[in-house]
Amino acid sequence: MTDKTQSIHKEWSSRFAFILAATGSAVGLGNIWKFPYITGENGGGAFVLVYLLCVAGLGVPIMIAEIMMGRRGRQSPVNTMQTLAREAGADPRWHYLGWMGMAAGFLILAYYSVIAGWSMAYIFKAFFGGFFSSDAADIKALFDDLMASPVQQIFWHTLFMVITMQVVMRGVRGGLEKAVRFFMPALFFLLLILVGYAMTSGSYQQGLDFLFTPDFSKIDADAVLTAMGHAFFTLSLGMGAIMVYGSYLPGHVSIAKTTFFIAGADTVVALLAGIAIFPLVFANHLEVASGPGLIFQTLPLAFGHMGGGWLFGVLFFLLLFVAALTSSISLIEPGVAWLVENRDMDRAKACVWAGSACWLLGVAVVFSFNIWAEYKFFGKNLFGLLDYLTANLMLPIGGLCIAVFTGWIMKSAHAEQELELPAEGFKVWYVLIRNFAPPAVFLVFLHVIGVF
Ligand code: TRP
Repeated sequence: MTDKTQSIHKEWSSRFAFILAATGSAVGLGNIWKFPYITGENGGGAFVLVYLLCVAGLGVPIMIAEIMMGRRGRQSPVNTMQTLAREAGADPRWHYLGWMGMAAGFLILAYYSVIAGWSMAYIFKAFFGGFFSSDAADIKALFDDLMASPVQQIFWHTLFMVITMQVVMRGVRGGLEKAVRFFMPALFFLLLILVGYAMTSGSYQQGLDFLFTPDFSKIDADAVLTAMGHAFFTLSLGMGAIMVYGSYLPGHVSIAKTTFFIAGADTVVALLAGIAIFPLVFANHLEVASGPGLIFQTLPLAFGHMGGGWLFGVLFFLLLFVAALTSSISLIEPGVAWLVENRDMDRAKACVWAGSACWLLGVAVVFSFNIWAEYKFFGKNLFGLLDYLTANLMLPIGGLCIAVFTGWIMKSAHAEQELELPAEGFKVWYVLIRNFAPPAVFLVFLHVIGVF
């Protein structure tokens, strides 16, 4: 099996290549689009604090666990779980965890591609001078216009999906390393420029207060769940994406150090996006809780006002598109890897199958913003439902299972051998993954269903 899998999937060329790919997966729409809008919807500071605690206390240890499992199993998540369960003498049904992960990745990509399509549409809107108006109402109209048009959205969604599948088809390495190496620092730099602009907008302090002054009366159980779910979402955890990347990782790479870097970079990008956006929201008297359109209704205002705004506007949405692309690849990779291993498909065919199915669901997501907007499930449109189901339920459940598996099922000697941490470090990780993470996730769920 090992020989076969290695010849199918190959290894990363170096530790650096893995870091690039995993950072590319983590940094995406979750940081720049989702983090600001859910922070706005959930009242700011207290929500941000809970999110940061979840990243540190759950995200980091679970990411270490997920990479470690991938490297030990060396296959797609479904088969990795099977191998690891066998090795630990545990119930083979653990491999259903791999299935749930594949399903989650598929459901996320369906709507992720639609939102990535919006950012592609905005590259062109920026290019053709769409942001020149300095009026918040005009900028909002630009966004409403896109929302109302299934044709425009389907066009961009289709294009994004085709590009994603093209990249996945060539195998995870090729263009990915280059894309992350060049575009990621550029994105970071542009965010700094936007933060610089936000400082001059007049409401900088108000924006910072909103983000960093916690007011716990503003959050309820569901907000805590959203914050926890987002910690998983933004780090690409709980569905096997990082596991599959870990499976291509050469031995003798420090998993813990690598994880600190990825989680750190991801968090900094999200916070910068928040710091760039909220001062603009307040300066222009916009609604903090305006939902998924938030960045599309605020950042163009900055580009419309600032020197060089045309260029920065085009560049920003281009970089956002690249960041989305390096994430979307990891959402579909577990499914494609599984098709290649178990259905004896070649990569190309696996991509066409997985991509087409995902595209179709994405079309329904597009309709949920316009012609099907009135169809609600539990008070949410299809987009909201998919997002809740995946980010708030499937990913935390996946993360919980990963913690239970590595903390309670897998032999600790195996984990120790894989991680090669100093004794103290290993102890801290082990307590977090075994004694802290499982009850913490569980308690949040109990709180949401109103047990206490
Ligand atoms: N982390 C990415 C983002 O923040 C999204 C993503 C990519 C993801 N792969 C994933 C989320 C796997 C959950 C699981 O945009």
